Amino acid sequence: MIVASKAPVVVPSLLAGDLSRLGEQLDAVKAAGCHWLSVDVMDGHFVPNLSFGPDFVKLAKSKGFYVDTHLMVTNPLDVAPWFVEAGTDILTAHIEAVKDGRTALQAIRKLGVKAGLAVKPNTPVDGLIAALEFCDLALVMTVEPGFGGQKFLAGMMPKVVALRAEIDANNLNCWIQVDGGVNAVNISQAAAAGADSLVAGSAVFAANDPAAAFRELELKARAAFKPQQ
Ligand code: DX5
Repeated sequence: MIVASKAPVVVPSLLAGDLSRLGEQLDAVKAAGCHWLSVDVMDGHFVPNLSFGPDFVKLAKSKGFYVDTHLMVTNPLDVAPWFVEAGTDILTAHIEAVKDGRTALQAIRKLGVKAGLAVKPNTPVDGLIAALEFCDLALVMTVEPGFGGQKFLAGMMPKVVALRAEIDANNLNCWIQVDGGVNAVNISQAAAAGADSLVAGSAVFAANDPAAAFRELELKARAAFKPQQ
């Protein structure tokens, strides 16, 4: 059991993996101490891209990783059972794709996995804060979802600060995840704002040495993280 808000965790995203040698890359980051991967699922409708199905969750689980599945789809609750079946530990839906965040989170938890809720850059964090009591992972997107390799939107940090304050004030066990454009330059800013799960795709898998890149990111995040005082 990985407990949230104890120390930040860097979570490589498979989206940036080199599919011709993904197994090798996963072994390398695992050897460097990585234990959590993020699988981005895109349906070509909620976002203008298509990506992975449940088999990629199965691959990550077969290698012993903890897995969050980030559903960038218009019907997250319809496809959720497929990823639960594949073994995901956390299922994250977008608040923009559900009628009510609280109900969606409870429906995901009923499937027997941890429940996450995500907000796109233009979506205020209020709906996420209102759903925190049912939330195991609050995801603040720092890029417009759909593609890896985009520029980190530092303007999203106030959402992280607000979530950190709410989670700490109510002693909730909920991860604050940041996803999009995270790299060695901006990870300290995200961790200092209070993010304790930092998704990094290109910064890890596009690096010459993904293991070294992972280690560097984790060191920087841990040095900057501000846990509950
Ligand atoms: C966007 C994806 C990406 C990915 C991370 O929809 O969610 O943010 O996981 O990719 P990088 O780290 O390359 O932005």
